[in-house]
Amino acid sequence: MSLNWITEKELNEIPFDAFLLLEECQLNWIDEERYADAWGLALRAHPYVVWAIAKRAPQKAAWAERMLKHGKALPPADTQALFQAERTLLRAYEDWIAYAVNPEIYHRQPFLQWDERELTGLCDFAGKRVVDVGSGTGKQAFAVAPLCKAVYCVEPAWSLRRFLRERAEREHVKNLYVADGLMESLPFEDGFADIITSGHVFGDSPDAELAEMLRVTKPGGMVILIPGNNDCDNAVHHFLTDIGFAFGRFEEPGDGWKRKYWLTKG
Ligand SMILES: C[S@@+](CC[C@H](N)C(=O)[O-])C[C@H]1O[C@@H](n2cnc3c(N)ncnc32)[C@H](O)[C@@H]1O
Repeated sequence: MSLNWITEKELNEIPFDAFLLLEECQLNWIDEERYADAWGLALRAHPYVVWAIAKRAPQKAAWAERMLKHGKALPPADTQALFQAERTLLRAYEDWIAYAVNPEIYHRQPFLQWDERELTGLCDFAGKRVVDVGSGTGKQAFAVAPLCKAVYCVEPAWSLRRFLRERAEREHVKNLYVADGLMESLPFEDGFADIITSGHVFGDSPDAELAEMLRVTKPGGMVILIPGNNDCDNAVHHFLTDIGFAFGRFEEPGDGWKRKYWLTKG
């Protein structure tokens, strides 16, 4: 199901070359089992993208070559069929495409208007060093910055790192720092953070992600996932509550009820 963050009109104006802007990690996350014909047609028309993928994400080089070969074996396609193939792929990866071409597309989404007290009321942030993982356009980080000593935003997308820095400058936030990194490999020493916050990120590799967040959290510190899950008892919920995370519910405007989770490191 599409996220529909990008309007049809905006999507029609984004060239397929937007895939050249993606990060290595994003290219590595492409699902090799899906959209073979669309990839085939698009890469046949833009073979330099195969070259760029191989340079940026060597793990995907063989897949990209395979898709190009598949494309060359497909029957000729008219301009409309090629356009449709490109739209299919841009829509399929519209979150990464939106971050890369215009972070404002994410930043304007109504669900980001959830009440920040759902986060700031969970613990005392005064004097604390906070690490926010997968910061996006800064929902969690900018909510806690006025309360804490410093907040370190970890964000793998270059365009969002730039957005965070520019937003901090615009809003005169002086205690916010921005770094490249991933939840499963944080660029900090053991026990660096009093509090880790993260929203809409946890869950692809739960064991590795949690182990890394706990490594970076001080004994007695907290890990807070907000939003950490949809409002249901799914695998992520059982994983977190079995370990001892407490949880609560809150509403994201236009996107329904979500869950937040928090754990004090023993
Ligand atoms: C849906 S956005 C959430 C942004 C923000 N935390 C919020 O709640 O609005 C997900 C963000 O996490 C980043 N991200 C995705 N996978 C990640 C990972 N494994 N580690 C760290 N960040 C990740 C993306 O680049 C994106 O900025």
